[in-house]
Amino acid sequence: MSEKKLHIALLFGGNSSEHDVSKRSAHTVFDALDKDKYEVSVFMFTKQGFLLGNKDSMRIFDGEPEDAVVAEAIKDVDFSNPLANIQSLSEVKDIDLFIPVIHGNMGEDGTVQSLFRLLNKPYIGSGIASSAVSFDKDLTKQLLTYHGIRNTKYVVVTPENQSEYTYEKCAAELGETLFVKPARQGSSVGIYKVSNKEEFDKAIQDGFHYDFKVLVEETIANPREVECSVLGNRDIKASKLGAIRIPAEDAFYDYNNKFVDASGVVFEIPVELPEKLTKEIQQMSLDAFRVLGNRGLARMDFLVDENDVPYFGEVNTLPGFTNISLYPQLWAVSGISYKDLLDRLIQLAFDEFEDNAKLHYDFVELGSEKLGKGLLTDEDKK
Ligand SMILES: Nc1ncnc2c1ncn2[C@@H]1O[C@H](COP(=O)(O)OP(=O)(O)O)[C@@H](O)[C@H]1O
Ligand SMILES: [Mg+2]
Repeated sequence: MSEKKLHIALLFGGNSSEHDVSKRSAHTVFDALDKDKYEVSVFMFTKQGFLLGNKDSMRIFDGEPEDAVVAEAIKDVDFSNPLANIQSLSEVKDIDLFIPVIHGNMGEDGTVQSLFRLLNKPYIGSGIASSAVSFDKDLTKQLLTYHGIRNTKYVVVTPENQSEYTYEKCAAELGETLFVKPARQGSSVGIYKVSNKEEFDKAIQDGFHYDFKVLVEETIANPREVECSVLGNRDIKASKLGAIRIPAEDAFYDYNNKFVDASGVVFEIPVELPEKLTKEIQQMSLDAFRVLGNRGLARMDFLVDENDVPYFGEVNTLPGFTNISLYPQLWAVSGISYKDLLDRLIQLAFDEFEDNAKLHYDFVELGSEKLGKGLLTDEDKK
């Protein structure tokens, strides 16, 4: 007698600049999932945030032109229905577990996690609050600073305090060369390295297109960019480290280097760094994961200055997952294959779901059999 296979829903796409990377990540995950163990459905969020059903998503997955499939799928949709965007969710009722492979907004900011929570289903990765905080560079830095994890000095400019935070004031506090970035973005979109008033004002203005909070940070000169993968829920492990080298003088890891022309970018996986520095970065990664309440997986990015002092840069709670992506590659060189990594993440998602199911959200005494089964009467709740 064959056991029933676990039904997994793989979500990809989304409305961030990483839509296409997400598609590639999802492909690699789909191919690597053991079809003897798992039945896999795929669901794509279009660039407009519309959730396609499994059949249409599969067509795109199989190489049909995305725009044509999307146009056909939405032509009869009644958008006066407020839930029209996510009507395909009705297809997911017998899903056992969700794997969101959506980078950036929607995927990493707590949005899809809220859907999974409403559906009461297990999913891979961090929860709602942890995702939302980790996606916000200001909130992340506040938590890290509170817990003594080194990161660059910065100020937050908002439309309200903008007149106070002039270039002169920021430069006096943080140095003449500054990094300006929206709090909630990714892929280096809206990020500028500035060193005069004109560039500064333009960068702040552009930043406000993406968020009403724009960070102005001190610059780490000629940094080495180092990454560490973390795996686990409460019992967590740090991988070996990787590094990204951008050979061009004065350049940084901007949108062009990431997605347009990455030919000059060199990945070192793993990277050999002095032992003390390696240990420090791994420890900072584990500390940050705990402080931010991350679950399952996260890739921690660092900037290391010319004196080998590491600064925490940012956290990615759903990092790239193609077979050349850093997160899985760092585990591969640390002894965990891509396939094993997926199996572990799936188990961690179930563990986390079970742990959370033990929590009591209702006003009934501990141990009530009715708890969590939707059987509470008004009398119970008094
Ligand atoms: N304070 C800084 N000093 C030096 N370089 C920086 C600084 N902040 C960002 N960068 C450069 O900009 C890139 C993108 O910044 P990051 O904060 O990682 O945003 P994103 O979420 O868009 O990747 C980094 O990989 C690095 O090359
Ligand atoms: Mg980054």
